[in-house]
Amino acid sequence: MNALVLHGGASNKIELRERVEEFADIAFREGNALESVVKAVVLMEDDPLFNAGTGSNMRLDGSIQMDAAVMIPGNFGGVINIENVKNPVLVARDVMLKSPHLILAGDGAIKFARKMGYEYYDPSTDKAREKRDKIIEKLKNGEIPEYYHPKFFLEFLGDTVGAVARINGKFAAAVSTGGTSLTLRGRVGDSPIPGAGIYCGERGAVVATGIGEEIIKRMLSINVYNRMGEMPLEEICKEELEKFGDVPVGIIAVDENSECAQSNLTMPYAIKKE
Ligand code: GLY
Repeated sequence: MNALVLHGGASNKIELRERVEEFADIAFREGNALESVVKAVVLMEDDPLFNAGTGSNMRLDGSIQMDAAVMIPGNFGGVINIENVKNPVLVARDVMLKSPHLILAGDGAIKFARKMGYEYYDPSTDKAREKRDKIIEKLKNGEIPEYYHPKFFLEFLGDTVGAVARINGKFAAAVSTGGTSLTLRGRVGDSPIPGAGIYCGERGAVVATGIGEEIIKRMLSINVYNRMGEMPLEEICKEELEKFGDVPVGIIAVDENSECAQSNLTMPYAIKKE
């Protein structure tokens, strides 16, 4: 059975679930695992209610740097700290399909995007500015330290979007994020790191969401992938998430015959099967 699973970010509003379901319907129509996950992520990048593309979090210095990645069995494409493009996930797909590299970062990623025809685009929103202003005020008032524990900024998270698919026997995964807020320029989260925020192989696909630093330390996505088949997917995801205690995290996954979406926070998600 074909399946597409989408999430709109651990800690994002559960009311967005209906919207995520609509996006799942649209993206599923692509009828191809890679194109479906990319389309799903594009739809969320274009919606300012999600922390990816338009609506991305701002770094402490006011800049917006985004990470995105796509993965299929045996291939990967990622962009790190890309700026001023509308859809980082499309650039990540082009890195995979049209460049000799797997990951491009910073200026190089931006230059590559322009070469591929992606025009200058400002993804900033008033909401992102207001969020940053609040953080700066809290920092000034000493309410949060500059070098913080993730729990301090849970209220500002609104994390990452992603999709995994199993369509016509093929797996794919895609992810995109404006990163966590209260973040230094240059910071890289889990999303563009294969094995951490995303993994896809012949047995399934996995995408994570939450505090990137903690997800990288635990290599969450490849841990779930490596355990596929050991027990029901739901239980594997549950066990892996439990290892995070109360650190904000979420996961979506598909294997050969099942799907799961779980988080220790609110996480709007959709599971479409046919
Ligand atoms: N999970 C996204 C990030 O930490 O950047």
